[in-house]
Amino acid sequence: EKPEALQDRPPVVTILGHVDHGKTTLLDAIRDTNVAGGEAGGITQHIGAYQVEHKNRLITFLDTPGHAAFTAMRSRGAQGADIVVLVVAANDGVMPQTREAIAHARAARVPIIVAMNKIDRPDANPDFTKKQLAEVGLVPDDWDGDTMVVPVSAKLRKGIDDLLEAILLVADTLDIKANPEGRVFGTVIEAKVDRAKGVVATLLVYNGTLETGDIVVAGKAYGRIRAMFDFRGRKLRKAGPSTPVQIMGLNDVPDAGELFLVYENEREARTVVEERLQQQQKRLASAPKISLEELFNK
Ligand code: GTP
Ligand code: MG
Ligand code: NA
Repeated sequence: EKPEALQDRPPVVTILGHVDHGKTTLLDAIRDTNVAGGEAGGITQHIGAYQVEHKNRLITFLDTPGHAAFTAMRSRGAQGADIVVLVVAANDGVMPQTREAIAHARAARVPIIVAMNKIDRPDANPDFTKKQLAEVGLVPDDWDGDTMVVPVSAKLRKGIDDLLEAILLVADTLDIKANPEGRVFGTVIEAKVDRAKGVVATLLVYNGTLETGDIVVAGKAYGRIRAMFDFRGRKLRKAGPSTPVQIMGLNDVPDAGELFLVYENEREARTVVEERLQQQQKRLASAPKISLEELFNK
């Protein structure tokens, strides 16, 4: 891309942290909604994508599950992020998925801001939590370190502005740009089959501007975008860099984490997908055969 073609885009902020430390409640507080209250068993099981405006600037948020089973989602969430907000409950401190989240952020070379949550709880221990954070290499800035640790209560909706300020401050130190006129690509956040709508995929646009009518290839799926919606379910015609969108029109369900690209025509898109499927078939055919009996006796 020519440098002058690059423009500022909203930062993509992924929320990571141990199960039940308050990630979804924090996002609810930021968005002033109540998603956490409607979740089955209060456990997040997918990546949610949202946008908010703060001081006339857009921020894209990805919510991830904290349950131990969802390592791959946390890893993908960190990889697609400009900034990670690590939620650590001040009554529980640094826990296994807190450490895991830090490792994902470091592997992806993404800066971490700590949201020290649940400070309203009588058993909250902010100093002890900071000590634990320092021990895993996140030395708080008020302890002469370089990690911003923002005390918040997602439940009482306290400290939210401070957290948003911290996010914008860190965003300003980074090069968060894309070319809205350039090649259109991004990743699949999640996809499923809806009884009424067919294949519905949530995409995050990294570069270019995705439009209704575009022909998209995502992994083994392709199709022309029939309709596009923002995270609130409102119809959209165009989606620029850092915008999460739901699209309808793919012929199959792509895997989460797949890259998507826009192609000029449907024939080219179909060829790309057919070649991918053939290669997959070849790999399967050349894989050593193993019988079910063998599998069960292992
Ligand atoms: P997973 O996505 O399942 O990992 O959980 P989560 O990190 O999204 O946590 P969630 O928002 O579901 O909150 C877990 C519990 O902590 C809920 O009962 C919340 O009401 C509670 N909680 C969240 N934030 C706060 C807070 O600031 N203070 C108090 N006291 N409780 C909170
Ligand atoms: Mg959650
Ligand atoms: Na939860």
